Amino acid sequence: MTDTIDFTRYLASKRAVDDRALNRGVWQTLAGALDGALPQDRPLRVLEVGAGIGTMVERCVEWGLFSRADSDVSYTAIDSEQSNIEVARRRLAHLASGGEAGLRLRLETANLYEFAARGENRHRFDLIVAHALLDLLHLPAALPVLLQMVRPAGLFYFSINFDGATLFLPEVDPELDAQIEALYHRSMDTRTADGQPSGDSRTGRKLFHALQACGAEVLAAGSSDWVVHPVGGAYPADESYFLSCILHFVETTLRGHPELHAGEFAAWLTTRRQQLARGELLYVAHQLDYCGRVGG
Ligand SMILES: C[S@@+](CC[C@H](N)C(=O)[O-])C[C@H]1O[C@@H](n2cnc3c(N)ncnc32)[C@H](O)[C@@H]1O
Repeated sequence: MTDTIDFTRYLASKRAVDDRALNRGVWQTLAGALDGALPQDRPLRVLEVGAGIGTMVERCVEWGLFSRADSDVSYTAIDSEQSNIEVARRRLAHLASGGEAGLRLRLETANLYEFAARGENRHRFDLIVAHALLDLLHLPAALPVLLQMVRPAGLFYFSINFDGATLFLPEVDPELDAQIEALYHRSMDTRTADGQPSGDSRTGRKLFHALQACGAEVLAAGSSDWVVHPVGGAYPADESYFLSCILHFVETTLRGHPELHAGEFAAWLTTRRQQLARGELLYVAHQLDYCGRVGG
C-alpha cells in the first residue's frame, strides 16, 4: 500500500521509459521540418507546455534536435505546478544559466490557459511541444489554445498521447484484469478539473482529426507505447519505482469504486505488487506521437 508518491521522482523515472517509447520516425520528421523552418534573423522560439521537471528539453539537447539551429534557441518551458518547476530549475541549472551554447531556457510556473491569454504569446512560437500532457486535457478546448501560440506554418510536436490500452501481465484473473482496465479508462473519460471535462482515454486516436479540424497538418504519426519489463530479473534504472507509481495511480483512482469488489481489488493490487517485487510484471500502455504544421 502506497498512499503517497514523489511525483517528481516519478517523472524522473519516466524519462528512460519515454526515451525507449518515443516514435523515432515522428522525431526524425520533426527534426527535418525544423531544419527547413529555421528563422534567419532571430532565435528559434520553442514553447513546451506541461514540461514537468524538464526531461524533454534535456532530451532535445542530448538527441541534437536543435543542432542545425546555429545554437540559437529560446526554449520556454511552463508547468502549472510550482514544485515541478522548482525541480526543473535545479536539474537544468546548466541550461538556464546559458551553459549549453546558444540555448536559452526560461522556466515558468504557469497554466496553459493563463499563459496563452497573454497577447504577446499569440502566434509567437516556431514550435510547440506537449509531451504526456494532452490526454489530461479537454482536447476541444485545449488544442485551439495551444495552436494559436504557434506562428503561421510553425510546427507542433505532441508526444506520448495515451490511447486506450493498458496491459498488466501475467494475468491475475482475466475478467478482473479487464474490469480494472475498463474502469480505469472510464475514470479518464469522466475526470473533471475546475468543473470542466479533463482528459480522454482515447486521446491518441482522436488527435488526428482534432488537429485537422484546427487547420493543422499532420506530417507524421506513430505509436510510442510504454513497455516496461524486467531484464535479467530486475527492472533497469528506476523503472521499478515507475511501475509502483502506475499501480498507485490505479489504486487511488479506483479505491472505493462501487462496481469493484473491494476485497478482490485489494488482492489484485497485492498480487501485482508481488509480481513487481519478484521481477515478473510486464506493463504496456498504448500511446501515439504526432508532429506537424499549423495552418499558414
Ligand atoms: C504527466 S505530467 C508530464 C510532465 C512532463 N511532460 C513529462 O513527461 O515528464 C503532466 C504535466 O502537465 C502539467 N499540467 C497539467 N495541466 C496543465 C495546464 N493546464 N497547464 C500547464 N501545465 C499543466 C502537470 O503539472 C504535469 O507536470
